[in-house]
Amino acid sequence: MKYILITGITGAVGSAAAAYFLKASYGVIGVGRKNPENIQHIESLCTDYFQVPVFDDKNCEDLFRKISQKKYPIKAAVFFNGGFDMNSIQNFDFDTFNKLLDQNYLSTVFITKYCIPYFIQQQSGCFIFTSAAATDQPKRFSHTFSYTATKTLINHLALTLRADSALEGIRIALIKPTTIKTEANINAMPDADQNSWIEPQVICERIQQFIDDNNNKFEEIFFDK
Ligand SMILES: NC(=O)c1ccc[n+]([C@@H]2O[C@H](COP(=O)([O-])OP(=O)(O)OC[C@H]3O[C@@H](n4cnc5c(N)ncnc54)[C@H](OP(=O)(O)O)[C@@H]3O)[C@@H](O)[C@H]2O)c1
Repeated sequence: MKYILITGITGAVGSAAAAYFLKASYGVIGVGRKNPENIQHIESLCTDYFQVPVFDDKNCEDLFRKISQKKYPIKAAVFFNGGFDMNSIQNFDFDTFNKLLDQNYLSTVFITKYCIPYFIQQQSGCFIFTSAAATDQPKRFSHTFSYTATKTLINHLALTLRADSALEGIRIALIKPTTIKTEANINAMPDADQNSWIEPQVICERIQQFIDDNNNKFEEIFFDK
């Protein structure tokens, strides 16, 4: 069986991706902060779940030690961990930035750090990093200064891995969604024009396309309608 590792498995897009890839006959390795006892229907959400209470260096190293013991052949690691907040540079505050840095960037970096040797040993593997359309369109997504800054670091992470000749067998997709049609967004913006919003299913289809195309070493994936 082929496996896909999904972070943010308890979130809107992460749980939709888990359902999508289970249906596509993947084994889904769910990674999240929550105690599995507090996740509804965990047994139907993913094939195996690993709790990482804090995504720091030591916990992520432990995570891959445990995954190695199970010898899962992982086709792709997909990052749907993240957080959002609104601010502009004029009301920048360190606490918000620090929170988003942790949710969007550091958690991704620590998993990536320990997933790289796993992929090198397998001689293959894909990273699917989730950035945001806001990183290319600051005017359209104004007042998301700290969020966009931390997502821009994800772009840098993807480009750094792409440039590293020691990681040749590893393929990378950098996805940059616009607003996604999630329950949280629908409730938060009931009057917005949702026609330009992207369905989680469409994101999953594009990710699967990338994973299946072994000749595609790097792709930036946009979802603008
Ligand atoms: N929704 C959108 O419109 C949109 C647009 C562009 C990009 N994105 C990106 O797409 C991804 C998924 O979005 P979503 O709407 O599904 O978000 P969501 O529903 O808020 O889910 C976020 C997930 O991230 C996890 N998480 C939060 N902080 C974390 C941390 N410090 N370390 C590890 N995991 C953490 C949460 O886990 P817990 O259960 O442990 O809290 C949750 O599973 C995010 O990266 C988001 O930035 C979303």
